Amino acid sequence: MTVRLDYTNMMADVVGEEHGLRDVEIAGLAPTVAEIHADLHARRKQGMLPFFDLPFREEMMAECQQLGDEFAERFDNLLVLGIGGSALGTTALFRALVPLQHNLLTEKQRSRPRLFVADNVDPAGFSELLNFLDPNKTGVCVISKSGTTVETSCQFMVVQAWMRKAVGNDWRDHFVLVTDPAKGALRPLATRESIRALAIPDGVGGRFSVLTPVGLMPLATVGVPLQRLMAGARSMAERATRPELETNPAYLNAVLQFLAYQKGLHISVMMPYSDRLRDVADWYRQLWAESLGKKFSIDGETVHVGPTPVKALGTTDQHSQVQLYMEGPHDKVVTFLTVDDFGEDVGIPPFPEAGDLDYLIGQSMADLIKSEQRATALALCKNGRPNCALRLSTVSPESLGELIYLFEVQTLCAGGLFRVDPLDQPGVEEGKLLTYGLMKRPGFEEKRAEVEDWEGGVNLRQL
Ligand code: PA5
Repeated sequence: MTVRLDYTNMMADVVGEEHGLRDVEIAGLAPTVAEIHADLHARRKQGMLPFFDLPFREEMMAECQQLGDEFAERFDNLLVLGIGGSALGTTALFRALVPLQHNLLTEKQRSRPRLFVADNVDPAGFSELLNFLDPNKTGVCVISKSGTTVETSCQFMVVQAWMRKAVGNDWRDHFVLVTDPAKGALRPLATRESIRALAIPDGVGGRFSVLTPVGLMPLATVGVPLQRLMAGARSMAERATRPELETNPAYLNAVLQFLAYQKGLHISVMMPYSDRLRDVADWYRQLWAESLGKKFSIDGETVHVGPTPVKALGTTDQHSQVQLYMEGPHDKVVTFLTVDDFGEDVGIPPFPEAGDLDYLIGQSMADLIKSEQRATALALCKNGRPNCALRLSTVSPESLGELIYLFEVQTLCAGGLFRVDPLDQPGVEEGKLLTYGLMKRPGFEEKRAEVEDWEGGVNLRQL
């Protein structure tokens, strides 16, 4: 076990009655959690929740490893094109598990390619990236479950032309498409053009897909040991599929967050005290927001529910956000991600002229960052602000595998507690349709007219 849930500071005996939780409240949700568990595992048995079984899919991992090794052999850069669940997990794990300066090293200093995840269509940022990369030395991984996402489609079209210009008909050999096994626009294109393709297992949605080729192919290319990542996920699978609330950290954390929400703490801050874990908060933000932010409950009732996830970084945001967390509205619950052993430490050396700074000599950066996290947690408690921590013994493929699996199961359980469907995202559809209209996609003419009428009909107020 390399990840522990520490929820001491969520409790009323520590942070006070007003926002703290009582054991009886947690225990009161045990029957509901038992029902959620029964439902999840019935659906799992029927093959409706395949993400549960991803860490056990050896053949999928082997396929990604093989292709990743081949791309690493042939290319100096891997360019990932994707957005949302097709990008955030890769970015988070790349930052966590590959040295932070990896992309700054020269070709000789590295044994694996650099990784660039392009998850936007900002023309300035994108053209800067393409100007920087040498297409001859670049492999491209296009990731889209639906195969229809407009941003990824646009990027793909631009990058294939860029590649074609440089390498002619060989452009196809530089690409791998990661998409649905049957549906969407990318699959037939892969077949027609003989471009290699990896399948995202049926029924695994974007934000639950980092342990499929979506994350595994790019991560294998940059040298993340997939076996160890998946071993971590399997070890959490044992803990996070236990039926009892008291022994299942994913269910327990879902309950804690749910109860905090019921007490008016509608903002869920994720604050890693580790540079490597910075982007885990970004990945989690999407998972939590898109899964739980819903208008309708599963019973069809209008609920407008969902915690707002916020990302922060310790210690950096102690000098930016923490004033608000301490003294602003009582609407936040903070989850720290802490690391016991950073693997490296930086000692604070003797400094004869140090004067008032003398007290630091002989201590280390690890002492400082850990002290600051403990101090912030206690200060929050003293202000009646609930907080909890997920404690990683080290930042390793195993601990990240555990963390990913824990958060995914936690999110499904939270969906049950909030009584919403955590697997859909109807709220993003309308914007997509209106964009299709504006981009002149056939069949969406009415949507274009709707935007134009609306924009023409409102009183413009601009300064
Ligand atoms: O979690 C999700 O389902 C979304 O965030 C998707 O990952 C995102 O919209 C990209 O979709 P696709 O992979 O189909 O291009």
